[in-house]
Amino acid sequence: MSYAIVCSSRTGNTDLLAQALREALPEEDCLYFGRPDPAALEAERIYVGFWTDKGTCDEDTARFLQTLTRQQVFLFGTAGFGGSPVYFDQILGRVKEHLPPEASLVGTYMCQGKMPQAVRTRFLGMEDSPRRTAMLDNFDRALSHPDQQDLDALKSAALQG
Ligand SMILES: Cc1cc2nc3c(=O)[nH]c(=O)nc-3n(C[C@H](O)[C@H](O)[C@H](O)COP(=O)(O)O)c2cc1C
Repeated sequence: MSYAIVCSSRTGNTDLLAQALREALPEEDCLYFGRPDPAALEAERIYVGFWTDKGTCDEDTARFLQTLTRQQVFLFGTAGFGGSPVYFDQILGRVKEHLPPEASLVGTYMCQGKMPQAVRTRFLGMEDSPRRTAMLDNFDRALSHPDQQDLDALKSAALQG
């Protein structure tokens, strides 16, 4: 089956996932690999990678998803906050709203992605509270992600889809 991998990534986390997918899938069936582009629409299946912006996918991804027609779609993404499948499901729920009804979703995968140091500095400036502590802990937990385990889990999710 022909496929394309499109990926939006601002700081490189989601690009790591896209690269892992590229390595796991058969090279000869790949029609397109790169940023969201109409060239990808020719493929029967499209792996769409996004970074989380304000609780949903980034705008480039949202615009691209709206141009899909009858393709099979596998959504993958990274988010700064994580550790909770419920949180990832909420994000994915919002991302799916951009899919046209004829497109068929064959799978999803999300993991945490490290955030720029400026974000930690901003958290440090907050008044001390359990929320501030949780934000700092989360920031530090995100620093090692995506890690090899994340990439392996993505590959197995994509190969099942
Ligand atoms: C402007 C901006 C908004 C963000 N909003 C969220 C958000 O709402 N929820 C979240 O979990 N992470 C948020 N993040 C964190 C990124 O989604 C996360 O670091 C992601 O892994 C970045 O992916 P990339 O390296 O592929 O760009 C935000 C980051 C930026 C820069």
